[in-house]
Amino acid sequence: MHKDVERVLISEEELKAKVAELGKQISEDYRGKPLLLVCILKGSVVFMSDLMRAIDIDCKIDFMSMSSYYSGTKSSGQVRIVLDLNKPVQDYDLLIVEDILDSGITLSYIKELLLPRKPRSIKICTLLDKPERRVADIKADYSGFSIPDEFVIGYGLDYDEKYRNLPYVGVIKPEAVKNN
Ligand code: IMP
Ligand code: MG
Repeated sequence: MHKDVERVLISEEELKAKVAELGKQISEDYRGKPLLLVCILKGSVVFMSDLMRAIDIDCKIDFMSMSSYYSGTKSSGQVRIVLDLNKPVQDYDLLIVEDILDSGITLSYIKELLLPRKPRSIKICTLLDKPERRVADIKADYSGFSIPDEFVIGYGLDYDEKYRNLPYVGVIKPEAVKNN
């Protein structure tokens, strides 16, 4: 285990099993539909790369990147688009792939940005959900794990851009978090 991890919350095996389950469900739900997976960078990159291989129907992928002005482990609530999709989406059923649904501010902003582009549909697939922290009125259509209000790292999730490469999801040690 990494020295800055207090405890493993979700193991590699649990992640693998859940991703397989989500991929199976998504494949059933979107069979025969023009599915476009929208990966929200950078946190979702690991989840996305595993999830897309667990989906056995035809689909396309694209990427978006938002910046949400983090200070330490709390979002400021201000969201800005850094990288947009590179094609129109009106012929696609969009599935937004997110690492974690926290306050929900980022995902509601993304939904508001994409809705006027009139896709066939928009749904959300999040690996992790922290329901206690929700501020915006938003729910995931597919959710991997509901977790308590603790700051987690690994499997794509970072603190200060570190730890994304850990193969599990772990709770960060308080002493590894900078005081601010
Ligand atoms: P929201 O807008 O508050 O829902 O924040 C969503 C984004 O905050 C996620 O895409 C993550 O980048 C980040 N985030 C929220 N909670 C955590 C956490 O526990 N660990 C790492 N990143 C987090
Ligand atoms: Mg993120």
